[in-house]
Amino acid sequence: MMNEKKEQIIEKYNSTAHFYDDRYSIIQAEKYDLVLKNFIFEGKIMLDAGCGTGLFHDYIQYNMYTNQNTRFIFLAMDISLKMLAQFHVKKKTGKLSHQDGIHLILSDMGNLPFRSEVFDSIFSLTALQNLPDIDEGVEDLFRVAKNNAEMILSILKKSLNSEALISGLKPRVQHLKVLNENHVEDIILFFTVQGKN
Ligand SMILES: C[S@@+](CC[C@H](N)C(=O)[O-])C[C@H]1O[C@@H](n2cnc3c(N)ncnc32)[C@H](O)[C@@H]1O
Repeated sequence: MMNEKKEQIIEKYNSTAHFYDDRYSIIQAEKYDLVLKNFIFEGKIMLDAGCGTGLFHDYIQYNMYTNQNTRFIFLAMDISLKMLAQFHVKKKTGKLSHQDGIHLILSDMGNLPFRSEVFDSIFSLTALQNLPDIDEGVEDLFRVAKNNAEMILSILKKSLNSEALISGLKPRVQHLKVLNENHVEDIILFFTVQGKN
């Protein structure tokens, strides 16, 4: 049975999906700019966990982080059908140039429908704070990450126990970098997943 908090979250995002981009594209862009610094796309299998309407993918394209020749696979998943539907409309109307390599999946972080150790890069941007148990969500992201995968998690600071999260991560990761800028509403964690084999 679906957890009650998750049902509320689905309802919240389903009912606001139609104006999400207008309201949040500028504030999210500031975060994308930070997370994409020095990121290399070529050859990667990427996951955008809690992708919403696909603003992150829009940003990658419109700011020319990639071009027609960049080869990467982008899996985008979200628990809200209406948020994903907004993403799908952009795909259908040809607003996205990187159409072939994008796959949209309706599912729940914490119960990801993927085999273990498949992703080279995992992003989750302003989504994990919605989970009833952030650790459970992060654990599932670890499961689907390859050894040495890069993970970039941006999480709303409000009501997040970041110290507990960071101390839980430390023994399992390498190259941990924490970006906690006053003017950004999220804390951003960059690290490499270690110790899988
Ligand atoms: C603030 S929005 C961020 C969306 C997107 N990452 C962005 O940068 O615009 C949070 C998203 O997390 C999704 N979400 C919340 N709980 C989730 C869960 N358990 N599994 C997958 N997605 C979830 C919501 O449906 C929503 O689309």
